[in-house]
Amino acid sequence: MSRIATTVTSIALHLVFFLLKPSQSLWFEHADTQLTSEALVNLHPNEAALFQFDVLGSSKFKRTRNSTAGCKIYPGDAVWPSETAWEILNKLTGGSLIKTIPQAAPCYQGPLYNATECATLTANWTNTYTHIGDPVEMFGSPVFQGLTCQPPSFYNSGNCTLGGYPLYVINATTVADIQLGVNFARNTGVRLVVRNTGHDFSGKSGGGAALSIWTHYLKNISFVSNYVDDTLNYSGPAFKAGSGVEAYEMYKEASNHGVIVVGGEGQTVGVMGGYIQGGGHSPLSSIFGIAADQVLAYDVVLPNGQFVTASTASYPDLFWALRGGGGSTFGVVTSVTVKAYADMPITSVTFSYTTANISHDTFWAGYRAYLDYFPQNADAGTYAYHFVVSIGPSDLMFLMQPFFAPNKTVAETQALLKPWFTRLAALRINITPAYAHYDSFYPAWLNSFPLEAMEHTNAMTGSRLFPRSNWANETLLNATFEAIRESGEKGATLIMFNMAPTLKAGNTDNAVNPAWRKTVLHAIQNMEWPANATTAGILAARKAFTYGDMQRWRDVSPGAGCYLGESDRLEPNFQQAFYGSNYAKLLAIKKKYDPNDVFWAATAVGSEGWYLKTEDGLPSENGKLCRVGN
Ligand SMILES: Cc1cc2nc3c(=O)[nH]c(=O)nc-3n(C[C@H](O)[C@H](O)[C@H](O)COP(=O)(O)OP(=O)(O)OC[C@H]3O[C@@H](n4cnc5c(N)ncnc54)[C@H](O)[C@@H]3O)c2cc1C
Ligand SMILES: *[C@@H]1O[C@H](CO)[C@@H](O)[C@H](O)[C@H]1NC(C)=O
Ligand SMILES: *[C@@H]1O[C@H](CO)[C@@H](O)[C@H](O)[C@H]1NC(C)=O
Ligand SMILES: *[C@@H]1O[C@H](CO)[C@@H](O)[C@H](O)[C@H]1NC(C)=O
Ligand SMILES: *[C@@H]1O[C@H](CO)[C@@H](O)[C@H](O)[C@H]1NC(C)=O
Ligand SMILES: *[C@@H]1O[C@H](CO)[C@@H](O)[C@H](O)[C@H]1NC(C)=O
Ligand SMILES: *[C@@H]1O[C@H](CO)[C@@H](O)[C@H](O)[C@H]1NC(C)=O
Ligand SMILES: *[C@@H]1O[C@H](CO)[C@@H](O)[C@H](O)[C@H]1NC(C)=O
Ligand SMILES: *[C@@H]1O[C@H](CO)[C@@H](O)[C@H](O)[C@H]1NC(C)=O
Ligand SMILES: *[C@@H]1O[C@H](CO)[C@@H](O)[C@H](O)[C@H]1NC(C)=O
Ligand SMILES: *[C@@H]1O[C@H](CO)[C@@H](O)[C@H](O)[C@H]1NC(C)=O
Ligand SMILES: *[C@@H]1O[C@H](CO)[C@@H](O)[C@H](O)[C@H]1NC(C)=O
Ligand SMILES: *[C@@H]1O[C@H](CO)[C@@H](O)[C@H](O)[C@H]1NC(C)=O
Repeated sequence: MSRIATTVTSIALHLVFFLLKPSQSLWFEHADTQLTSEALVNLHPNEAALFQFDVLGSSKFKRTRNSTAGCKIYPGDAVWPSETAWEILNKLTGGSLIKTIPQAAPCYQGPLYNATECATLTANWTNTYTHIGDPVEMFGSPVFQGLTCQPPSFYNSGNCTLGGYPLYVINATTVADIQLGVNFARNTGVRLVVRNTGHDFSGKSGGGAALSIWTHYLKNISFVSNYVDDTLNYSGPAFKAGSGVEAYEMYKEASNHGVIVVGGEGQTVGVMGGYIQGGGHSPLSSIFGIAADQVLAYDVVLPNGQFVTASTASYPDLFWALRGGGGSTFGVVTSVTVKAYADMPITSVTFSYTTANISHDTFWAGYRAYLDYFPQNADAGTYAYHFVVSIGPSDLMFLMQPFFAPNKTVAETQALLKPWFTRLAALRINITPAYAHYDSFYPAWLNSFPLEAMEHTNAMTGSRLFPRSNWANETLLNATFEAIRESGEKGATLIMFNMAPTLKAGNTDNAVNPAWRKTVLHAIQNMEWPANATTAGILAARKAFTYGDMQRWRDVSPGAGCYLGESDRLEPNFQQAFYGSNYAKLLAIKKKYDPNDVFWAATAVGSEGWYLKTEDGLPSENGKLCRVGN
């Protein structure tokens, strides 16, 4: 990454950052530095105009700057900010502005070409840790970046270009950095995106020619032994964490205090960022619910630039929306306060079986037998992460990795699994379950879950939250099973989670997709198109997937939904599918806080008003973001 040269000398930059420290028990240094209107008087009026705050709820977007023709402005537009304007942004953010250079640039001809560096990158490319320190990589879905600069053995684009990567990134370490970025984007019309880790399956952490706010280094964590919120009826341990904190960091810190926090299974997931704002399922969800259910307060920079706390005491509507209504919609969250719970022992179990010695019918009969126990296993507090994957041209593997049983002994876990295992034995499906017992959550989590490989360049993903009511009678359950089996037989990779994240006692209503409350199976299917497919071939494959393979799942779960964090970017009627009956209320809150759509992300609340004009016609972030009708 190249830092922007800080050569601005023509203007006086005696910017004063006022210290606004309200009386609250938890305070992070990143909030010491905030932008104020008073500070802006030190700038030349023309420059100050770039960073002015807006009045909450105002819609005075300067449409006189009309060369944008209803699109977010793009390099080459007459009103694109001058080099000087970007340099001022860099200066005011303390030299935090990064001009994007794609990570794989050393793999392509040009000044950065370096075969050694390319080889190292290539070797590590599927590892999520490789991308966490990079400001822009959209590794949850490089397809939606536009595949314009992958290591050539993954995808050879001939040249390395920015595509759907943002053009500039603010490496945020203070609240002021974020306020400056939000105000700059709003006042200029430049597209704004927010990136934390880049895990998003739909590429929502990037955007072509955008200014990105990178929250990764907001890493503070503080423990509060007794946090009290009477409205939420909560009194107990809590953590306040910066929005850049990842799962492995949060769990480790919780473990240091002898408590646990509801977070994801994946190690590098931004559990205090996009994950928790969009809901967030967890190995602990069958006991404590969805991650968003745990939130006690958010600190957030609003679309008008103001820095506020959203809780039951202030901005309660925003507080409700940020608990499940999705990231990159209502503002930039800087920190989150969440409930913590007493640690507990864990039993985890892993095993697998394949079609090597059994017929496909027997293989699937084993899965059908398993389905019978989903409601009771989840209601017993467990979280079962399991897969059906193709191995070789005609073989399948079932993989349990792991069956995670919090607060259970090995004997209790064996008892829970016994009815299913008895039926597997009757089907002559041999398994060798490996049981492991841990005294606490952290080592159990660390040892039990795989580090998922990422950067799929020819894959599409969709998911469904199958409702518990499908388990009410055998006809419905058989139909559910057949829909899943058909995808498995067609070569889909099935990534399945059996859990029951109902609204647990002690948690309060929020914007989490109501479909989560009713489900016992979050099922993901992944399918590939041929690596050499043409654009038309890819579009056809996508259509067959979204309206065929996914429709089979919708047909057996009418009115249910799917999880916005792990889903199909092209999901039809996403408003119902991702937000359910909460959509109308979420949209009203979006219009109140962000009437001009400073924030936009594919499938986010209010996103239907805009679309991406991509040159190749494939869905991606590689193009102009324009209002529908333009
Ligand atoms: C390997 C892997 C494992 C996963 N495991 C789980 C799991 O166990 N449970 C689960 O529920 N999900 C899981 N997910 C899905 C994951 O939760 C979502 O992709 C989620 O959006 C990631 O959030 P992030 O902040 O890490 O990612 P990013 O891609 O950086 O951000 C996701 C979205 O949130 C926005 N955003 C991020 N931070 C902020 C902020 N501070 N303020 C405003 N908007 C913000 C971004 O703009 C973007 O739209 C997994 C994904 C992967 C790839
Ligand atoms: C607005 O844009 C249109 C189309 O580009 C152009 O014809 C028109 O002159 C512009 N109006 C102003 C006031 O700039
Ligand atoms: C290529 O990268 C390696 C590793 O970073 C470095 O040691 C080497 O000097 C580079 N080669 C050139 C020609 O820049
Ligand atoms: C990256 O790849 C190199 C070469 O294979 C290896 O030595 C190194 O450990 C890898 N690094 C990571 C972070 O995986
Ligand atoms: C790469 O860029 C150069 C210069 O713009 C162009 O001539 C060439 O055709 C491009 N190659 C590919 C494969 O796109
Ligand atoms: C971003 O900022 C952090 C904290 O100051 C620093 O450690 C890191 O190197 C920066 N990253 C980049 C790519 O500039
Ligand atoms: C927050 O993080 C910063 C940067 O790493 C560090 O200097 C500071 O001490 C931390 N503060 C708290 C309260 O943890
Ligand atoms: C508040 O919590 C207490 C203890 O956790 C519980 O007994 C009580 O019923 C709760 N009250 C409400 C209104 O939820
Ligand atoms: C398949 O059967 C053979 C012979 O009975 C046995 O050796 C082998 O372990 C079996 N493989 C599996 C995967 O069960
Ligand atoms: C864990 O199990 C113990 C003993 O069975 C029980 O008392 C406790 O309530 C359980 N904890 C939770 C959070 O379910
Ligand atoms: C199963 O449930 C469906 C949907 O409620 C219903 O139409 C059907 O009659 C039920 N079948 C049986 C056998 O109860
Ligand atoms: C459900 O499928 C099983 C076979 O997998 C079959 O034996 C049973 O009769 C089916 N039940 C109904 C109600 O169709
Ligand atoms: C892709 O490759 C396959 C097998 O190598 C070949 O049969 C097919 O014609 C190719 N398709 C295209 C569009 O090049």
